[in-house]
Amino acid sequence: MIIQNNNTFHLQGRNISYIISVNSAGDVVHVFFGQKLRNKEYSGTEKNQLGLVAYCENGVTLDGVCQEYPSYGYNDLRNPAYSVKNKDGNSISHLKYRGYNIKENYTPQIQGMPSIFAGDKSAQTLELTLVDDTVGVEVVLSYTVFDEYDVILRSAEFINISNSNVELNSAYSASIDISKGTYDLIYFPGAWTREREFVRCGITQGMKFDISNARGISHCINPFIMVTEKNADEDNGDVYGFSLIYSGNHSSMVECDQYGNIRIQQGINPFMFKRVLGSGESFTTPQCVMCYSESGIGGLSRELHDVYRENLCRSKWAHKDRPILINNWEATYFDFTEEKLISIAKQAKEVGIELFVLDDGWFGKRNDDLRSLGDWVVNPEKLPSGIDGLAKRINEEGLKFGLWFEPEMVNPDSDLYRAHPDWAISVPGRTPALSRHQLILDLSRDEVCDYVINAVCNILKSANIEYVKWDMNRPMTDMPYEGYNHDYTLGFYKIMDAITGAFPNVLFEGCSSGGGRFDAGVLAYMPQIWTSDNSDAVARLKIQYSTSMGYPVSAISAHVTAVPNHQNGRVTSLKMRGDTAYAGVFGYELDITKMSGKELDEIKQQIEMNKQLRTLMRTGDFYRILSPYETNYCSWEMVSKDKTDVFFYAAKILSTTNTVEARIRLKGLEPEADYIDIAAGKVYGGDELMYYGIEPEFESCDFASYTMILKKNNT
Ligand code: GLA
Repeated sequence: MIIQNNNTFHLQGRNISYIISVNSAGDVVHVFFGQKLRNKEYSGTEKNQLGLVAYCENGVTLDGVCQEYPSYGYNDLRNPAYSVKNKDGNSISHLKYRGYNIKENYTPQIQGMPSIFAGDKSAQTLELTLVDDTVGVEVVLSYTVFDEYDVILRSAEFINISNSNVELNSAYSASIDISKGTYDLIYFPGAWTREREFVRCGITQGMKFDISNARGISHCINPFIMVTEKNADEDNGDVYGFSLIYSGNHSSMVECDQYGNIRIQQGINPFMFKRVLGSGESFTTPQCVMCYSESGIGGLSRELHDVYRENLCRSKWAHKDRPILINNWEATYFDFTEEKLISIAKQAKEVGIELFVLDDGWFGKRNDDLRSLGDWVVNPEKLPSGIDGLAKRINEEGLKFGLWFEPEMVNPDSDLYRAHPDWAISVPGRTPALSRHQLILDLSRDEVCDYVINAVCNILKSANIEYVKWDMNRPMTDMPYEGYNHDYTLGFYKIMDAITGAFPNVLFEGCSSGGGRFDAGVLAYMPQIWTSDNSDAVARLKIQYSTSMGYPVSAISAHVTAVPNHQNGRVTSLKMRGDTAYAGVFGYELDITKMSGKELDEIKQQIEMNKQLRTLMRTGDFYRILSPYETNYCSWEMVSKDKTDVFFYAAKILSTTNTVEARIRLKGLEPEADYIDIAAGKVYGGDELMYYGIEPEFESCDFASYTMILKKNNT
């Protein structure tokens, strides 16, 4: 609901209030974001209370005042929400409020970029118009609030209302100033095979964090951050989340000003960004999802999970159980024949696997990673029956068939590159940098996007392909101009729109050298994303634990792979590998034809278990219990919305001697209800599980895991 009261706008979500006020000088001031407030006239701080630094003519100094979309260089010298250069070549700007518009039942769908949709939820959008007459720019700030959620969606549109060009050098999607307090920042840096590590640090005066990425793909930093009250933990305390629906270069800026206020901004990375707007032209930022929870990090995660599952993912697969897959990559790498693939599929069918995925190496002359990206034509030597014939054979074995593509790429050794060398991103006078022997196609060009769309669609039309793994395996170099990465990202979305729109029944999985493009933009098109090339169960504890802070378990692709693990050499039990992968979209990636009878029996049981669990894992409320970042354990739990079905997981990383186990207390249950441990038949009280806890019986070895399926006892 949006309540407008003179110059105050009060946005109320399910449990939140977001209050904006326009002060007497026409500045748009941020009043409050937090737990729901009753409606009243709130005005916020008019001007800097200290009065010592009134360095502008009318005496209103905003430096230190909480604002909604701050300008730079006039009466606020903190990091600005945007930067425009006018025809005189300076970047001093000052936006003033002009008016507002409230749109009922409306969620903005940002042109060319994915956005949250309303679905069956009730949404209202407030648009505030701000103008800088000297520069000649109008900015429309958009705020969407839902009756059912605790999120505010934000974006900003810039319109050049002058007669000359205006240069936009930065444009955050959202900016917010949280008034003085003691806060922590949580963000998710990483690298290939150790994506999205959890980092928490204090925010103190004078600090300015630019949590940004300018590499095209985001292994090293994720576009999701949280700012929490100092004492907030998984279950308690104020937590603010900022998640960008964007797959290009991004920035989350956190600054603590000289008075202790915290400024948080999120949007396109200003580094190497520029947009020249001709007279009358406009530019809209991607959408930022701002979320608040008073129930700690866990509360915030569950809220984002609901929003993303229900109102971001467009695929019908968002609401369907995903097939249990087997992928041949780690089983064969490039070295396979049709018969080898069929033998894997046959064995996979026997244990209950439902989908066979053919990974890299099926096209052109791709027997290694040196060549053929771009040539999306089957290699008849490896696959004499073609993709169509192979898909038919796999279907005859009783499995669905899926296929890997890396459509944004080209190898110099490819027919595509020989025909169109100018289609690869490059700058005049320089040889473009290779990475994994490949170059990136220039998706800012329509004809290149059309090639990609046609190449992929032709293959998808040619055979019964029910799943696609969409990979992107290198960072972006040689960008021809400032702002290029945004144009590339728009090209990527155009392709995604076209292909996922043309094949609505196909299940798409995102991938980027493992989890290098795990973001809400990708999630809009592809309901599951390969989380990391590191599938070692112990490494996955951390990766899946922290990924779940910003993204639903239904998006976190998790495979059981062979031991010693191909990435880090660790040997873990098949049990631990399976147990850990249940908290994700479950699958296998190993040579199942080489497994022993005993192992195959265990896999059969895992598959039965996953079939029993997968609806719950896709739709339930996820609780993190013990952090592998802080303890020798990892524990999490999924509870169905009606609190009837529960999956509990715990792992003990290293074995210990002569110690007692800590009891682990479950969360989110009905205390008065009884819950039965399905396997053991033992009945627990909900209160007992949550307040007294359980003592998992870990095997006495390193890397031990324990699971329990509980059901509410209705009798
Ligand atoms: C990337 C992916 C892997 C696999 C290979 C194939 O590294 O993350 O899963 O598909 O590419 O080349």
